[in-house]
Amino acid sequence: MEKKSPIISIKNLHFTYPDGTVALKGVNLTIQEGESIALVGKNGSGKSTLIKHLNGIYQGDRGEITVDGLPVIEENLQTIRGLIGMAFQDPDNQLFCPTVYDDVAFGPINMDVDEMALHKRVQESLEKMGLMDLADCPSHNLSFGQQKRAAMATILSMRPKIMIFDEPTSNLDPKNEAVITEIIANLPYTRILISHDLPILYQVCQKVVVMDDGRIDAIMSMEDFITNRQLLRKNGLDFTFKCDCCNGHNHEHRHNQIEKKSLSF
Ligand SMILES: Nc1ncnc2c1ncn2[C@@H]1O[C@H](COP(=O)(O)OP(=O)(O)O)[C@@H](O)[C@H]1O
Ligand SMILES: [Mg+2]
Repeated sequence: MEKKSPIISIKNLHFTYPDGTVALKGVNLTIQEGESIALVGKNGSGKSTLIKHLNGIYQGDRGEITVDGLPVIEENLQTIRGLIGMAFQDPDNQLFCPTVYDDVAFGPINMDVDEMALHKRVQESLEKMGLMDLADCPSHNLSFGQQKRAAMATILSMRPKIMIFDEPTSNLDPKNEAVITEIIANLPYTRILISHDLPILYQVCQKVVVMDDGRIDAIMSMEDFITNRQLLRKNGLDFTFKCDCCNGHNHEHRHNQIEKKSLSF
C-alpha cells in the first residue's frame, strides 16, 4: 500500500533565542493530513516557539521541517504561509488595516486572488465568524472577543490546509469561548491547537502532544490523556485539582460556586 507523506514533518529541531535561552532541544513530530492535534505543556515548555517554526517566523539552529512536502526554507515561505493559517494569542497582531473587511481581504489580495473571488471569500469568512455587521468597522473598535473572531476570519479567507491556534479561548467570556470552540471543532482542516482549556481540547482534538522543557514528552490519544490525572495535573489541565485547592480554603460559598462550575463542563 502507498504510504501517505505527512503534512508536517519536524526532525531534530533545536532553537536558541538571541538572549541565549534554549527553547527547543531536539523536537521530532509528524502530523498527517486531517489530524487534529492538541499541543499541551507547562508555560515556557516551547509550544509557541515550536509553531512559529512551521511558517518560518523562527528558523532553527539545527533540524529539518517540511510542510506538505516542502522544506521550510526562504524560497518556499510564501507558498507555506498560504498553506498554514496561524491565529496568535493576541489578535491585535493580526489586525492592522483600516476596517475589518480590509483585514480579512489582506491575505487573499497578497495571494493574487481576483476581485470577484476575493469578495466571495471575505463575505464567507465574515459570515462564518458572525461579523457581517462589523465589516466596515475599524478593527481596533471591536471588543476582544470580536477581535479574536476577526483574526480567525483573516485566516479563513486564505483557505489554508492547516490551521494553528495559540490559546484561542484565553481571556474570553463563556459565550465567545463556546462560539469559537464550535467553529474550530467544525473546520475541515488539519489543526494544531495550543490551549490550557481542557473542554476545547477535548471537543476539537483526537491526539495529544505533550511538550516539556523544549522536547516532546509524550504523544497519545485524547482518551488516554484525559484519564491520566497525573499528566493532566503536570500540564496545568486538571480542573478538579483547581477545585481541590479552593476546597482547602474551606470557604463554603466559593466552594459551592466552583462545584457548580465544574458540573457545567
Ligand atoms: N522572545 C523571547 N526571547 C527569549 N526567550 C523567549 C522568548 N520567547 C519565549 N522565550 C523562552 O523560550 C521558552 C519557551 O517559550 P514559549 O515557546 O513561549 O513556551 P510556551 O508557549 O510553551 O509557554 C521559555 O523559556 C521562554 O521564556
Ligand atoms: Mg505560548
